[in-house]
Amino acid sequence: MNQQKILVLLCFAFCILHTSQANQKDAYVISYVWPVYASFSDKLYTRQDFPFFDGENFALNYFYPMTSFGGLCTPMFCNKPFSFNATEIKEHDKIYLEKYFVRFDQYNFQTSQDLWRKYGNCFNQTESNYFETMVKAHKKFNIVHALQQKNIYPCEETIYDTQQVVEALSQALNGQKPELYCSNFHKDEKSGEFVSYLRHFEVYLDKNLNPTQTSQLCLYEYCPQKIKIPPFKY
Ligand SMILES: *[C@@H]1O[C@H](CO)[C@@H](O)[C@H](O)[C@H]1NC(C)=O
Ligand SMILES: *[C@@H]1O[C@H](CO)[C@@H](O)[C@H](O)[C@H]1NC(C)=O
Repeated sequence: MNQQKILVLLCFAFCILHTSQANQKDAYVISYVWPVYASFSDKLYTRQDFPFFDGENFALNYFYPMTSFGGLCTPMFCNKPFSFNATEIKEHDKIYLEKYFVRFDQYNFQTSQDLWRKYGNCFNQTESNYFETMVKAHKKFNIVHALQQKNIYPCEETIYDTQQVVEALSQALNGQKPELYCSNFHKDEKSGEFVSYLRHFEVYLDKNLNPTQTSQLCLYEYCPQKIKIPPFKY
């Protein structure tokens, strides 16, 4: 075998390896949401809207397994025929979802069935496995606690540097820095500064649900340099 052939073979092997590693790396995407201020309306949510949510962690926005094709940046919306059997979801997962999977108003209404239809059903996972993995992933990271460690609290008055919040989160996410998304860009009356409310962010996870880097750069509504994390209204 001449040298050129060996080189070609080596590269071929490497490329295949490289591709399969890339697929394994980004296995899941989980989105955390702070469900206080709506994205599309001026509604402020209260305890009545989410009776089981306790604010002990950020809520669960969505969760989807990744594929090597499509479905990046926007969750893959899958239109495969599906059946949904609520009793397939394990009881403890159901109780957990009741608490942390908040259902928004008509602008953002989602049920467990929608989660399964949109994000779960197209991948080779059983219904109970999909919800179980979702709960496991969400439980792994306590976002509220991670922020508290750096003296960041939901509060009406305090304005935080976006970078400061990202740094606090990265401690909990093995050094990964999530891209934050905000809503309601406005001028703060008191300070005269322009701020937004922290709304949600995504975390990319590998097969073992460890945070991983993504090569995807997705464009959403980014946060400005100054943000607030609004507290719940009672
Ligand atoms: C729903 O799932 C439960 C638990 O696995 C099973 O016993 C039941 O037969 C299923 N119902 C239907 C309509 O498939
Ligand atoms: C799911 O499994 C089927 C049959 O084993 C396979 O053909 C298909 O490619 C798999 N789909 C995904 C997204 O892995």
